[in-house]
Amino acid sequence: MTDAAHPDTLPILIAPQAILKARARPIGAGDADRVRDLVPLMFATMYKAPGIGLAAPQVGVGLRLAVVDLMPGDKPAPIVLVNPEITAVSAELATREEGCLSIPGQYAEVTRPARVKVRFHDAAGVRQEIEADGLLAACLQHEIDHLDGVLFVDHISALKRNMLMRKLAKAQREAK
Ligand code: NI
Repeated sequence: MTDAAHPDTLPILIAPQAILKARARPIGAGDADRVRDLVPLMFATMYKAPGIGLAAPQVGVGLRLAVVDLMPGDKPAPIVLVNPEITAVSAELATREEGCLSIPGQYAEVTRPARVKVRFHDAAGVRQEIEADGLLAACLQHEIDHLDGVLFVDHISALKRNMLMRKLAKAQREAK
């Protein structure tokens, strides 16, 4: 279902929502039509937000699908991740501030492996592998986490998480 005010985009679910905590299911051959329809809507939704990554559960779809675009040099560089898997991580860690379109307005420092290898299928069904560092490494891990029902706040202390989720709930109430 598309966003009534913007028919080319989808409403983004805000935490806490059950589907954001659920494990998404692998995409199979029978999902091809659905994925083909969903990908452009997910990109439009992400660009409008704006954000650099969006996972299918964030738009209410429990499939292992995510889109990413870091817009290097302000030019589009869209990546479609179908059934992405992290196949290797560096021992070295990196900490950076993360946010999430499902946790709007809230940010926290998250520590993750600095470099990752990710295997996935692209929108055309071609098998791909990316080796990423920096922001892309963090973004890929963040989006793949979404497919396992994990949010960036699950990587911080319970104390910080509770504080952040209370602030989010308050901001959401006030926005109504
Ligand atoms: Ni997110």
